[in-house]
Amino acid sequence: MKDDRSLQELELLVVARLYGLAEARGVVAKHLQDQTLHETQEVASVEEQPRTDALHPLASRASRLVPSMNWDELRETVRTCQLCGLCKQRKQAVFGVGHESAPWLFIGEGPGADEDEQGEPFVGQAGRLLDSMLAAVGIQRGREAYIANVVKCRPPGNRTPTPQEAAACAPYLDRQIELIKPRLIVALGKTAATRLLDTEASLASLRGRVHRYKGTPLVVTYHPAYLLRSLPEKAKAWEDLVFARRVLRESA
Ligand code: URA
Ligand code: SF4
Repeated sequence: MKDDRSLQELELLVVARLYGLAEARGVVAKHLQDQTLHETQEVASVEEQPRTDALHPLASRASRLVPSMNWDELRETVRTCQLCGLCKQRKQAVFGVGHESAPWLFIGEGPGADEDEQGEPFVGQAGRLLDSMLAAVGIQRGREAYIANVVKCRPPGNRTPTPQEAAACAPYLDRQIELIKPRLIVALGKTAATRLLDTEASLASLRGRVHRYKGTPLVVTYHPAYLLRSLPEKAKAWEDLVFARRVLRESA
């Protein structure tokens, strides 16, 4: 009974927020004011940068070192990483944000222009929608959730990262997952689903069931940037988050 009521309240909240966003905007504006801008990183020599489509020769060494890194080591390694060609045009690598032992881990695709500028994932328009989706299921960025991306550096023109770029960056995301030990991973969109589930299956066919990534339960939903373009899918994303919340509760 109580659960039904809170579900209804949440439903109202999500409809208001997904379609209106007005309330969420204030929260995000405050959040933006609070955060410090990271220093822009300089890339020393463009000639020495690896090609976008080739794995850097140091990639296999890095992937051996990364699995034993702590948070500080990992953050510093990502900050200065040049393992794939995305390092060439980034202003800064966008590591991830949130509680380091969060029960929820949301994984997007890669930084866009706003994220590249500010050094935090999902701070642009798609990020505002993500925050309102999170609020709708009662979670706050930085408290119960950690937010990261498949690639840490912005793909030029916001293109989809190549499988090679996703593979180069994979050890970092994998280490983040190991350190956080989330109770549930939510893959936001096709790029995250493909990377984590190693499948080319359509997003629609992956929704609504519990997958696993190295033992951790994982659910799939639409990417917020896609939802901004496709209004009818917002209701499905809401269903996915309610499903995700149930999965997490039942795993307790
Ligand atoms: N889209 C993503 O996938 N990640 C971000 O951080 C921002 C937009
Ligand atoms: Fe390194 Fe990942 Fe950035 Fe490529 S996207 S340069 S692998 S941090």
